Amino acid sequence: MAVKILIVDDERSNQMLMEAILLPLGYKILMAGDGIEAVEMARENTPDLILMDIMMPRMNGFDATKKLKDAEDTNIIPIVMVTALRDVEDRIRALEAGADDFLSKPIDKTELRARVQSLLKVKSYNDYMRNHQAELENAVVTRTLQLQKAFEQVKTASLESIFRLTRASEYKDEDTGAHIMRISHYAKVVAIKMGLNDQDVESILYASPMHDVGKIGIPDRVLLKPGKLEPEEWQTMIKHTTIGKKILENSSTDFIKRAEEIAISHHEKWDGSGYPNGLRGEDIPLSGRIIAVVDVFDALTSSRPYRKEPFPLEKVFTILEEGRENHFDPEVLDAFFDVIDKILEIKEEIQDESVSMLLQMVKNGTDQRGVME
Ligand SMILES: [Fe+2]
Repeated sequence: MAVKILIVDDERSNQMLMEAILLPLGYKILMAGDGIEAVEMARENTPDLILMDIMMPRMNGFDATKKLKDAEDTNIIPIVMVTALRDVEDRIRALEAGADDFLSKPIDKTELRARVQSLLKVKSYNDYMRNHQAELENAVVTRTLQLQKAFEQVKTASLESIFRLTRASEYKDEDTGAHIMRISHYAKVVAIKMGLNDQDVESILYASPMHDVGKIGIPDRVLLKPGKLEPEEWQTMIKHTTIGKKILENSSTDFIKRAEEIAISHHEKWDGSGYPNGLRGEDIPLSGRIIAVVDVFDALTSSRPYRKEPFPLEKVFTILEEGRENHFDPEVLDAFFDVIDKILEIKEEIQDESVSMLLQMVKNGTDQRGVME
């Protein structure tokens, strides 16, 4: 494609002179008779160079140059001011308007050629750099998308493994995949209500299914005993928190660290009467305080080895309220009741025990607000 040069001059003789010098060099010549026409033509034709007269009717060369340099689509076009004026002030004004170079009238053939050729060289270098940068940016975007996809696949694979292992640990218990999924989603909506950031909400969503992973270390005679536990059986049972911590500790992954935190703290109580460490109030990690509420809610609204029928909702709410400020963090309890409609929706939604639902949850990631919230 031929290089385009726009000659802007109100005197026909000047236009023709410059055209006569430049045409033999193979450039395509465009003509404008004043600043307004120059701006319009530059926008429509994007020339590679503009030779701009200063004193013209309607719009002078300073104003036209400023307009072109201010506009994103024309500001890269080099502009040579062609003027008889040798006044320093005019040169400063031209530079302020954004002119790239000057050419004196009367026009000297050699000077015109030299200026045009050197500015076009700079222009083509700039064009190359700009295109190259655009190519690089595209390459970076493509690579980033590939990496994101790879990262998502790795994340899905690792979450899926964890969910399957969690399910294995729950297998001998009467708790089901549906139980751990409900806990997970209950915790998520409470965490959102409490104003936690997206990253914390996500880590709680993914970590909470592992809260009872330590039950894998509890003998069946204790874990599955229908009826009240003897004191020494109880001492065995409460070890599922420390066993869970041991299984999960020393991970460098955020949500496994969160899972460790939840495993060790979800049976602590607000007044310090919980286990295993008797932590009190805000010494208990918030994730543990959230799981404490939703775990009890789910236990009371599901069948258990020692109580085949779930309690009616009214009774469950009363029991939870009775736990305010002794078992439960009052703020967590408030958040829980604030989102009770969503909690009950999740309860209805997640009844199925199938692994496929768990996997669906992993694959959908955190963005399943439509279904689960
Ligand atoms: Fe537990």
